[in-house]
Amino acid sequence: MKALALLHASQLFTLSGPKRARAGKELSELGIIRGGGLLIRDGKIDIVGPSDEIEKKARDAEIVDLGGRVVLPGFVDAHTHLVFAGNRLDDFERRARGETYEQIAKAGGGIWSTVQKTRTASEHELLELAKKHAGWFLKCGTTTIEAKSGYGLTLEDELKILRVMQRLNEGTPLEVVPTFLGAHAVPRDTSPDKYVDLVINEMLPRVAKEKLAEFCDVFCERGYFDLEQSRKILTAAKMLRLKLRGHVDQLSNSGGAKLMAELGATTADHLEKTDEQGIAALKKTNVQPVLLPGSVYALGSTSYPRAREMIDAGLAIVLATDFNPGSSPTPSIPMVLSLACTQMKMSPAEAVTATTINPAYSLNRGDEIASLEFGKLANIAVFDCEDYRELAYWFGVPRTHSVYVKGERVYSTQK
Ligand code: NIG
Ligand code: FE
Repeated sequence: MKALALLHASQLFTLSGPKRARAGKELSELGIIRGGGLLIRDGKIDIVGPSDEIEKKARDAEIVDLGGRVVLPGFVDAHTHLVFAGNRLDDFERRARGETYEQIAKAGGGIWSTVQKTRTASEHELLELAKKHAGWFLKCGTTTIEAKSGYGLTLEDELKILRVMQRLNEGTPLEVVPTFLGAHAVPRDTSPDKYVDLVINEMLPRVAKEKLAEFCDVFCERGYFDLEQSRKILTAAKMLRLKLRGHVDQLSNSGGAKLMAELGATTADHLEKTDEQGIAALKKTNVQPVLLPGSVYALGSTSYPRAREMIDAGLAIVLATDFNPGSSPTPSIPMVLSLACTQMKMSPAEAVTATTINPAYSLNRGDEIASLEFGKLANIAVFDCEDYRELAYWFGVPRTHSVYVKGERVYSTQK
């Protein structure tokens, strides 16, 4: 593979720093190189620095002139529900008429309606849909995502979804980190306790044996899985050496954040209703909060999580899309940057750290991706702006110019 030099960025952000997720003031340190460039060899980053210096060392390389654009590590989206069939347009319209998430679920919409469509779809059909959506992520500048199962809710259907993720990894440039979310909802035709037993005794052992997931997640919420059921499932997952994430305190404050802290989870996600005690608990075991403002926005709520308090408490905050057909139909990290700044009072710099290096550490990949440093994979996003703050500022306008994964251009607006 020929070496590749990307030269003349207006601003290149290395995100270099300590080899761990960033907290407090570190969230604002993006490692800017004005007029920067980089040299890529064998899919990895070789040199990063001022463009004239790179040019001298790049005699054998193909040269790409970035024309004064912004360069970032590819975004890392640490919370998505990538694999599903159908859409939830009817839910969307009902919501516009004023019905709530819970009312819509009771009336036959919600997670269960997506489960029915996903069960009917073949592995091939799901793969084709997931490929289409994977293309959307790349187009928004995202090069790695976490993806959860959870629209199958039978052993075979959950395995089918996880296999789609595996095949996606083999067939598309987007890297997918798989999470088992068998406990996303209780199927209509069974009792909660029976279903928890099925998750623990049949699903989890198979998922672990076939190495189909790195993490286990639970939807801990009134009407879904209570604290005790969530604890049982996540404890069983931990015994099988899966790491833990959790949907907690989204619609009500049920003590989910504390549970994630107690179990030593890697992340606690949502946290819209988490209070100061929950935040303090997360800090005790350094659980990373994953905040999902896209779902607050799309549900028409104003209950954004307390990002500033979490940052002040010293938590290594993460922002993600929560891409799913129900509560957050967006693959766009730039949209999330906008929401983080306007609705959660994060600075553009904090938001960039929370969508690159911090999520990479939450996915156990902080040493391989998400900063532009020697030896890291050349996963890079180039944006059509001069100042990185424009990414959060001009909302609703796609700004991606080109995207590289392992040094190969996988998306470009240029011919
Ligand atoms: O993260 N909260 C639970 N799960 C998703 C919603 C999934 C759906 O509505 O299909 C979420 O918001
Ligand atoms: Fe989610």
